[in-house]
Amino acid sequence: MPTVSRVLGYQHLADGDFAPPASPRVFFEPADTETGVWVARDLITEGCSVLDLGSGSGAAAAAMARAGAARVHGVDAGTESVAWATEHYASRDGDLQVTLAQGDFALLSTAQLLSTAPAPLTRPLVVTSNPPYVPLTPQAAARRRSISGGADGLTWAPAIIGHARALRCDMGLTIGSYSTPRTAVRLLRSAGYRVDSVTLCPLPLGEFTLSHREQVLALERSGEAVLWRTGHGPPAYFIVGLACRWAGPDAGRARGDLTGDGLLHLLRTAARSHTSRLEALDEPAPDGWTGRLRVLDLPAATVRHHW
Ligand SMILES: C[S@@+](CC[C@H](N)C(=O)[O-])C[C@H]1O[C@@H](n2cnc3c(N)ncnc32)[C@H](O)[C@@H]1O
Repeated sequence: MPTVSRVLGYQHLADGDFAPPASPRVFFEPADTETGVWVARDLITEGCSVLDLGSGSGAAAAAMARAGAARVHGVDAGTESVAWATEHYASRDGDLQVTLAQGDFALLSTAQLLSTAPAPLTRPLVVTSNPPYVPLTPQAAARRRSISGGADGLTWAPAIIGHARALRCDMGLTIGSYSTPRTAVRLLRSAGYRVDSVTLCPLPLGEFTLSHREQVLALERSGEAVLWRTGHGPPAYFIVGLACRWAGPDAGRARGDLTGDGLLHLLRTAARSHTSRLEALDEPAPDGWTGRLRVLDLPAATVRHHW
């Protein structure tokens, strides 16, 4: 197991990002957003551009700009999300550092997505996404578009990975420990990506997920989802941020790569912990992965907007 770094508290979101948006149809879950920003930060180099797919409130895009990206362009399908993000986070007066546009990344081609930016995004370019990732039944999914990741939690992953791959650039993907994480790594690896760092953040299941957890439990029973049961309160999951390097289609396997089985092993180890610092990850374990592992121990918000 690699050495674990721990971050106790928020480091990227600004004070104003902790107030829920006025519209309940703008996603609000600070721990999830903060995790996505850590993933982006692992890939951001001074002066790079970021294409953020499913940018929600725009708080993540703004935080990525503060973390050093010269340009961040967020695209979201939700009308209210784009309006909120534009009003609160878009750069003004001709400055293009943070820009936002409406668009469906599952329908638009990569070229069409790029053309929603007011000026070309220059390289180095990073694609990030913290998409809806909760596995839900079709009936439940229809009621929560901002969090539903389809039956396996990965409905949106192929489109996101496809855009990053088409651009041959590094990418960050944030999912849940119940979003068939083994499959997620397989998809990434077969597209030519290597997982460079993993960020984990424990979080209680949201109210809607808790009351519609059939699909999550079915995946847990089949061994493809990991929940965390401490004996105190309802089960929790881990937000899983995967910062990935573009290795190319012919990269092949290298020693020290994280595999899908490796990620599952890591999550199951984390789930043996008694505290939110995920101390079980400090146990020495026979594992070949040599990347970076970060644990975020963040207070959960009392209000969540999952629409
Ligand atoms: C879980 S929220 C995350 C928002 C933001 N990235 C954050 O971290 O705070 C997912 C966002 O993806 C958007 N979304 C879902 N499917 C989409 C699609 N096909 N195209 C564009 N945006 C999409 C939703 O509207 C929602 O705002």
